[in-house]
Amino acid sequence: MVQLKINGESATLDVAPDTPLLWAVREQLGLTGTKFGCGIAMCGACTVHVDGQPVRSCSTAIADVEGADVTTIEGVKAADGTLHAVQQAWIDHQVPQCGYCQSGQIMSAVALLRDTPNPSDADIDTAMAGNICRCGMYDRIRAAIKTAAKGA
Ligand code: FES
Ligand code: FES
Repeated sequence: MVQLKINGESATLDVAPDTPLLWAVREQLGLTGTKFGCGIAMCGACTVHVDGQPVRSCSTAIADVEGADVTTIEGVKAADGTLHAVQQAWIDHQVPQCGYCQSGQIMSAVALLRDTPNPSDADIDTAMAGNICRCGMYDRIRAAIKTAAKGA
């Protein structure tokens, strides 16, 4: 059994200790907003926050997040349903094309703006470097981050 907090709720999971956090999130908890891309920590599609830090859930064993506070894309909006400024900016800029990478992109952007409210282009490049978009929506991602920074 592994205990953790997921999007503010306590959860107890009956999974093997080496189960990837991504599988626990998707299969055990039914939170399918987090995506499986590469499975080897190279694309960022599976990004979630563990104690506020973006991590690759495909390559994080569930035992390593015992007792941690995990946030997925489903937990980013406010309790009353109001979208996070990053989510709203993503809609306003129509960032997604196929959409597959986007929850991971948003999780990295949310962490960036929490730590760096007015990021430079270099800050954005550094924070987002691990999130690959095969549709090449990088210009819109950058623009949306800048819009969210103004509204945050
Ligand atoms: S699926 Fe985890 S980094 Fe690609
Ligand atoms: S929107 Fe298709 S991979 Fe990023």
